[in-house]
Amino acid sequence: MSELTNVSVIGAGTMGSGIAHVFALGGYDVNLVDSSKDSLEKALSSIKNNLGKQVKKETITAEESDNSLARIRFETNIGSVDNSQLVIEAVYEKKEVKEKILKELDSLCPRETVLATNTSSISISELALVTNRSDKVIGMHFFNPVPVMQLVEIIKGRSTSGETFLFIKSVVERLGKIPVEVNDSPGFISNRLLMPMINEAVFALMENVSSAEDIDQVMKLGMKHPMGPLALADFIGLDVCLNIMEVLQEGFNNDKYSPCPLLQKKVAAGELGRKTGVGFYDYS
Ligand code: CAA
Repeated sequence: MSELTNVSVIGAGTMGSGIAHVFALGGYDVNLVDSSKDSLEKALSSIKNNLGKQVKKETITAEESDNSLARIRFETNIGSVDNSQLVIEAVYEKKEVKEKILKELDSLCPRETVLATNTSSISISELALVTNRSDKVIGMHFFNPVPVMQLVEIIKGRSTSGETFLFIKSVVERLGKIPVEVNDSPGFISNRLLMPMINEAVFALMENVSSAEDIDQVMKLGMKHPMGPLALADFIGLDVCLNIMEVLQEGFNNDKYSPCPLLQKKVAAGELGRKTGVGFYDYS
């Protein structure tokens, strides 16, 4: 496999900009692609801000921050991916949206380019089917905030080659992150464990077992989680949580993963958490 020098990231939302940030800091040239100019402008300001936090903490120097920023190209044209050895898609968590992008990437990229997806729960084997390179399609699941969280879940689809896995594992290690190897299964490991816990917290709130603050306090103080499950749901986005519960329910064909009606109600009302200013808590 050729040496990695250039990485494209598709989707300049929270995850895409975090991924672009860590690759640029790792010394790679990054091509961050989004069809929306507005999203790219927001990504630039959030990456600047997050690099600034690291400078303030003295984990990186101001020069490293400037050099990292200079390594990122902000692009609206997806055709710009053709000189990347690795392309990571980090678009909205809907199977049809990801399939469309992967199909397009497959037609634009040289045969040797690895196509990774940052999906948090959708089957890698199924996503790979829309391409003509299923041996080079792999899950690379980062966690928010990407510059802070150490873990990357690497998910092998049915046809992902050993060579592709070892390539991605070494890339993750070179970024200073810790990889875990996971076989393709709904929600992988992270969301198979995390989302039912969040969903159960929402049931407890709906059934008035306790207040949102106290439910969160139990997991923070009793289990030493950095955030309670309801605050974490707001941080992740309630629409994302709902999507993942639906993937688990459908993928395992088991109603133990039924999304809580209160979660469905909040998403239908547009109360998606921090990004809309209200979720289980009010951020306005
Ligand atoms: N970029 C760079 N640095 C950042 C940052 C960012 N985006 N956000 C926070 N930081 C740094 C801060 O500078 C700070 O550093 P020091 O402690 O060394 O000063 C540190 O991270 C902690 O930040 P804060 O002090 O601002 O806030 P905090 O102590 O309350 O921590 C948190 C914030 C890191 C988000 C912490 O609450 C946490 O770990 N929460 C859990 C997050 C989590 O579970 N993420 C996974 C979500 S699931 C997911 O992403 C995938 C999925 O599939 C759904």
